[in-house]
Amino acid sequence: MSRIVYLNGEWLPEEDAKVSIFDRGFLFADAIYEVTGVVGGKLIEYPGHAARLVRSTAELGIECPVSAEEMLEIHREIVRRNSVDEGLIYLQISRGAADRDFSFPKNAKPTLTLFTQKKAVLDNPKVATGLSVALVPDLRWGRRDIKTVQLLYPSMAKMQAASTGADDAWLVEDGFVTEASSATAHIITKDGTLVTRHLSHEILHGITRASVLDIAKAAGISYEERPFTPQEAYDAAEAFVSSATSFVLPVTAIDGKPVGNGKPGETTLRLRELYIRDKIANAI
Ligand code: PDD
Repeated sequence: MSRIVYLNGEWLPEEDAKVSIFDRGFLFADAIYEVTGVVGGKLIEYPGHAARLVRSTAELGIECPVSAEEMLEIHREIVRRNSVDEGLIYLQISRGAADRDFSFPKNAKPTLTLFTQKKAVLDNPKVATGLSVALVPDLRWGRRDIKTVQLLYPSMAKMQAASTGADDAWLVEDGFVTEASSATAHIITKDGTLVTRHLSHEILHGITRASVLDIAKAAGISYEERPFTPQEAYDAAEAFVSSATSFVLPVTAIDGKPVGNGKPGETTLRLRELYIRDKIANAI
């Protein structure tokens, strides 16, 4: 059955939603996006995603076409219209359509689109096995903190990882892991310290990452925000990724080498449980 999607104020069957070939999202990847998880028909961590959306648009000088209240209502409405129990909402705002020119157009009207994807986000089979990841050079641009739709390199990295039999890529730059292709990368050292890269222009400021650190603190798990090397990752007791759609997901192999005992880590699974419990309780 076709989904109902949102396009610039209209609710349309997906096959009727059309965007101009002059849209700068299409021509220049001049667009930002957000992905919000849905569980039990409710939005997970919506305030964080809404705040990052505002930041991304501000960094690029794109005007958000709807108010904060309308944006929340659109998210709720798309879940209702598509009867989404579990899955995600994808939102994109491009600068809009204009004649092709590298300079930003003055009066383009931003294009706002949203669609849903139903997906069993809680009952993820990778929780039991963990993900295998391959280390791949990070060849993305220098403003990864802005959640733009320039996702070609992360796609290429993921394909490169898949060609070695891995589930995902962890990206490496200047001798340190930056993040996963579409998630934040974390390790837990043999002395039990969670290590995750500090915030900068080099990584996306993960909404799940921030909550995981809050939850770790409350649970008495110590953490350090600093870059870590591939060697530290190979030597770690546990590893995991975090994102809006994976929550907290164990990584059990890096470049074909088992992480710790090769099974999902105890602390990782505890963080996953605490995260899911807290975020479902606070879903809106
Ligand atoms: N990706 N880093 C990158 C490069 C990402 O693309 C994502 C999310 C994250 C985690 O951010 P958050 O915790 O706010 O979801 C980190 C989304 C899920 C995606 O592109 O589908």
